[in-house]
Amino acid sequence: MTTILTNIKQLIGIGEFTEALRRQELGQLQVIENAYLMYEDELIVEYGKMEDLKSPINPSLEQINCCGKVVMPAFCDSHTHLIFAATREEEFVGRIKGLTYEEIAARGGGILNSARKLNLMSEQDLYEQARERLIRVMKMGTGAIEIKSGYGLSVEGELKMLRIIKRLKNEFKLPIKATFLGAHAIPSTYKENRQGYINVLINELLPTIADEQLADYIDVFCEKNYFTPEETNLLCKVGRQYGLLPKLHVNQFNAIGGIQVATENNAISVDHCEVMTDEDITILAQSKTLATVLPSCSFFLGIPYAPVRKMIDAGIAIAMATDYNPGSTPSGNMNFVHSLGCIQYKLTPEESLNACTINGAFALRLDKKVGSIAVGKMANLIITESISNYHFLPYSFGENHIEKVIIAGERIDSL
Ligand code: NIG
Ligand code: FE
Repeated sequence: MTTILTNIKQLIGIGEFTEALRRQELGQLQVIENAYLMYEDELIVEYGKMEDLKSPINPSLEQINCCGKVVMPAFCDSHTHLIFAATREEEFVGRIKGLTYEEIAARGGGILNSARKLNLMSEQDLYEQARERLIRVMKMGTGAIEIKSGYGLSVEGELKMLRIIKRLKNEFKLPIKATFLGAHAIPSTYKENRQGYINVLINELLPTIADEQLADYIDVFCEKNYFTPEETNLLCKVGRQYGLLPKLHVNQFNAIGGIQVATENNAISVDHCEVMTDEDITILAQSKTLATVLPSCSFFLGIPYAPVRKMIDAGIAIAMATDYNPGSTPSGNMNFVHSLGCIQYKLTPEESLNACTINGAFALRLDKKVGSIAVGKMANLIITESISNYHFLPYSFGENHIEKVIIAGERIDSL
């Protein structure tokens, strides 16, 4: 079926890109005022100015009048922990009363708390919960997503999570990438034997994951009290032997050398980056590795925001994602991330939008398929309500002015 969007007030985020956007390029956003866009089945086939559209419009086309509305590429959320068994409001209240995220983790809360609950829940129940969450974020404009394991921390638990991601990939048309994050924390059963757990990851989990093609990428939480840079390096190397490129959690609370390990292993991205030394910034700027920054995590935990302006000025490619998870970011709302990019990182709406769309697509290695308006890319689109212009979206923070979301040419409100 062919659909045409007509009278679009502003069609934004247009273009084909061969590399992630850096420096001034990040602030360039191609806009067509009074535009049309046509898609056939899953793919964009044509777009341009309304005045260049041959009329009359073929009546057999499905037509959506977008008068007064902005049309943009759907968001690419390149970092989530969407599968979890239970929310953690008790920790939220604990933090309000003065405990830190690290103190809560040291008392058996945090990731280990989530792992305990996930291991007790059936695959079917977990699947159904994850599916609901996925539909919710799609309705908020997410058109491509990465989902991590990392709340299993046992052979069965990790495989259960990855198999759920595989089922989601089969059920939904939005592109999904799966990341193996077995090295999210040392489980309590291996508290006195961390090497034993790393051996389980290397000798038991990775071979099975490769056999069943359960993951696209590998992640490690490289942080004090979690995994050292040496352990991270080892896991990246073994992961690569199984075809998994690294996307790593680094520099969330401490700069302990994760950036160096990541760039030496040609990581696709380093994620978090709240705490960056000058040396980290220099090394990262010289590499192809993107920095995926997660402003709603800083917002929720009250930790520092990544020094994004300094990173952009140094030449680092920035993507923005939600980090959706029950502990540090219980929100999968990319529209809010877009606002925080402007409000907290002081990005222009153009920079913030590119970081949430095309650079997110690069951080997912899906840049040929999604992240911008281009002929041959997936028809993954956001249609706003009638608004003044695209700056209104990040400006009206916490509100949702998205009217329709189209993924692979299908209206997702019909799900
Ligand atoms: O990205 N930092 C590591 N992992 C998650 C939080 C996990 C949790 O608290 O459950 C994050 O913030
Ligand atoms: Fe995370």
